[in-house]
Amino acid sequence: MNESVVSTPPGGRLVNLDLVRWHLGGSAVFLAISIVGGLAYSFQFHNLYPFEGVELLSPGRVRMVHTNMAAYGFIANAFIAGMLFAIPRLTRQPILSDKLGWFIFWAWQACMTLTILGLLGGYAQAIEWGETPIFVDPLILVGLVLLVVNLSVPIFKSAETGLYVSLWYFLAAFGWTGLVYFMGNYLPQFWVPGAAGAAITGLFIHDLVGLFVTPIGWGLMYFFVPLLLRKPIWSHALSLIGFWGIAFFYPMQGVHHFLFSPIPMYAQYGAVVATIAIEAVVLTVLVNFFGTLHGRSDAMRGNLAIRWFYTGMVMYGLTCLQCAFQVTLTFQKIIHFTDWVVGHAHMVMFGVFGFWIFGMFVELWPRAVGRAWVHPRLLSAHYWLTFSGLALMIIDLTAAGLVQGYLWANLAPWAESLDASAPFWWVRSLAGLVIISGQALFLWELWATARGPAAATEFVPVGEVA
Ligand code: HEM
Repeated sequence: MNESVVSTPPGGRLVNLDLVRWHLGGSAVFLAISIVGGLAYSFQFHNLYPFEGVELLSPGRVRMVHTNMAAYGFIANAFIAGMLFAIPRLTRQPILSDKLGWFIFWAWQACMTLTILGLLGGYAQAIEWGETPIFVDPLILVGLVLLVVNLSVPIFKSAETGLYVSLWYFLAAFGWTGLVYFMGNYLPQFWVPGAAGAAITGLFIHDLVGLFVTPIGWGLMYFFVPLLLRKPIWSHALSLIGFWGIAFFYPMQGVHHFLFSPIPMYAQYGAVVATIAIEAVVLTVLVNFFGTLHGRSDAMRGNLAIRWFYTGMVMYGLTCLQCAFQVTLTFQKIIHFTDWVVGHAHMVMFGVFGFWIFGMFVELWPRAVGRAWVHPRLLSAHYWLTFSGLALMIIDLTAAGLVQGYLWANLAPWAESLDASAPFWWVRSLAGLVIISGQALFLWELWATARGPAAATEFVPVGEVA
C-alpha cells in the first residue's frame, strides 16, 4: 500500500493508489495489444500480413481489435485511473466503495477480454466503434453505471463551496457516456435502420470522442496542469466558456461523418456549422492553458509530463483546425474515404488523448508503485520516438489522402491509386515500427520501476525526468 504518498483525511485513506496502479497497468497491456494489431494490419497493405490464412486473426477482425482496444482498453482504463486519483483529491472525499472499485476494475478487464475474443471469433456488431459484440454491451453499460455511481458520490458529498471545472467535465461525461453508448449500440441495431440509423451512428462516433473522451481528458488537464506548474489556471471564466461550448456544439456534429449521404442536407449543414463553431471554443481552452504556461515555459523542457500534455494540446488545436476545414463540402469531395481521415484519427486519439495519458503515467506511476523511475532517460526516448513516429505517420497519411483523393476525383483507375498509395503505406509501417519501439521502452520502464527498489522518501519526484 502506498497511501502515505497522498495526504490522508482522518480515519482513512483518500486515494486508492492500488486501484490507480491496476487501471494504469490494464491500460498499458491493452495499448500493447492495440498497437501490435495496428502494425499487423498495416502490413496487410503490403501483402505481408503475418497471420495470412488464419481466420481467427483475419485482418478485418484484427483492425477492430486495434481500434476498440485503443479506445476502451488503453484510453478508458487510463482515464479511470486519472479520475480515481483526481476526484478524491479535488473533493477531499474517498470514492464510494473500494470493493466496488475492484469489482469495476475486473469487470472492465473482463469486458475487454470478451470484446477481443468476440471480435476475433466473428461476433462483431456492424456499427463503427460499436463493434463490441452485442452480448458484451449490457455488461459494459452496467460497468459504466457502477463507475458513475462510485465516482460521482464523492463529488456530491464534497463540502467545497463551488465545483472546480474538472469536476464539471467529469460530471458531464458521467451523464453522457452511458447514454451515448446505449444510443450507438442499440438504436441503429434494433430501432432506427437505414439513413436515420446512419445519422445516429455518426452522432455516436463523434459523441464518443466529444462527450466521453474529450470532457474526461480536459477535466484531467485542468487538474494536472495547475498542479504540476504550481500555479492556478489562467482564467476560470474561460474554462467555463470552454465547457459550455463543448456541451452545446459537440452533440450536433455527428452527421459530418456522413456528408454527401442520403441524410437530409439541413442536418449535414447543421453539422458543418457546429464543427466550425467548435474551433472557436477550442481556441478559448487553448488560450487558457497557454496563458497558464506563461512564465513557466521552462517546464516544457524540465517536466516531461507537462511536455506530453502541451504537445497533446498543440495536436488538439491542429486536429480541430483540420476539422474546421475538412468538414466543408469542398474538402470532403477530395478527402472522403481516403487515408487523410486515418491520419486525422491517429492525431486525435493518439496524439492528443494518448499523449495526455503518457503525461499522466509520468506523474502517477511512481506514486502508484511507490518507486522512483529507474531509467528516466528511457522515458525521454519514449517521448521522442512516439512523437517523431506519430508526426511521420500523420504527415504521411495526410499526403496519401490528398494523392488518393485527387486521383479518384480525376477518375483515375482504382489500381493506379493503389500503386500511388503503396509507398505511403510503407512509410506508415515504418512510422508504426518507430512508435512501437518507443512503447517497448516505455513498457519496459514501467515494469522495471514497479520492480525496482522502494522509494526512500515518502514523496516520489514526478515529471522532472527529462
Ligand atoms: C504502432 C502504431 C499504430 C499503427 C501501425 C496503426 C495502424 C493503423 C491502421 C493500419 C489502421 C487502419 C487504417 C485503414 O483501415 O485504412 C488504423 C486505424 C485506426 N487507429 Fe491505429 N495504428 C497505431 C496506433 C494507434 C493508436 C495508439 C491509436 C489510438 C490511441 C490508434 C487509433 C486508430 C483509430 C482511431 C483508427 C481508425 C481510423 C479510421 O477508421 O479512420 N492507432 N491504425
